[in-house]
Amino acid sequence: MKPDLAGKHALVCGASRGIGRAAAEALAGLGADVTVLARNRDALDALARTLPKNHGAQRHGWLAADVADTGALRSAVEAMVAAHPVQILINNTGGPNPGPAIDASGDQFVDTFRRHLLASHALVQATIGGMRSAGYGRIVNVISTSVKEPIRNLGVSNTIRGAVANWAKTLATELAPEAITVNNVLPGFTRTQRLEQIIEERVASTGKSRNQIESSMLASVPAARFAEAAEVAAAIAFLASPAASYITGINLPVDGGRTQSL
Ligand SMILES: NC(=O)c1ccc[n+]([C@@H]2O[C@H](COP(=O)([O-])OP(=O)(O)OC[C@H]3O[C@@H](n4cnc5c(N)ncnc54)[C@H](OP(=O)(O)O)[C@@H]3O)[C@@H](O)[C@H]2O)c1
Repeated sequence: MKPDLAGKHALVCGASRGIGRAAAEALAGLGADVTVLARNRDALDALARTLPKNHGAQRHGWLAADVADTGALRSAVEAMVAAHPVQILINNTGGPNPGPAIDASGDQFVDTFRRHLLASHALVQATIGGMRSAGYGRIVNVISTSVKEPIRNLGVSNTIRGAVANWAKTLATELAPEAITVNNVLPGFTRTQRLEQIIEERVASTGKSRNQIESSMLASVPAARFAEAAEVAAAIAFLASPAASYITGINLPVDGGRTQSL
């Protein structure tokens, strides 16, 4: 079954590269109009020009915004949806800096809470009108397997991801009667710039080779390989589609079996 998203408009955040970019490509490939959002204007402009178009009415665009400025973000998205309402929202941005929770400052927690939870909340509030009018809404949050099993040395991330997961579950219950679903995708190790950064940091901090670091990471992955961004994007696209109409309030790991909890 190939879902058809013709006539639906998706706003995909963190889409200039990595998982967000792959999600934009997957949703456009299913026929959705796609607006890509991130900070890098040149990358967004180039991507919007090359996203797939399956039918004559399909149109793509981009919006440059920093999720750290939630007021400006909300205003920019409200202006955009006034002309082109959104029915599919993919909440995604760069991951928080690593480090143990015990060393994190209060400001680090507050800043991460703003960029992850408050930005996502502003985006939901800015787009929900289009979902309600269409009688069709899909909110997919890209977070982390740490909501099931906290990950070592990601203290701030573990904390804020948990808050985002509980916010999403709460919204899922509130919005289900309106045919608006809210779900979380939890990527495992996925080949993106973020993963490269993590590997390089571990090489630098341990003095081990890149091969040794990758092997030790893969030892925890039953599938014995890293994911491609397109594999995470396929799960996002499914949850955004009509095929997932009765799925809401879930955490979906896309991690090659790495998470051991059910
Ligand atoms: N890759 C993995 O292995 C993995 C595993 C688990 C969880 N995750 C999580 O999944 C999410 C996406 O990961 P990824 O690997 O695709 O990351 P990535 O390659 O670093 O891409 C992050 C995207 O977010 C955008 N972004 C970053 N800061 C932003 C800001 N302040 N305002 C607006 N956009 C911003 C970036 O674009 P600009 O720089 O142009 O703004 C980019 O498009 C992250 O939260 C990450 O922690 C990833």
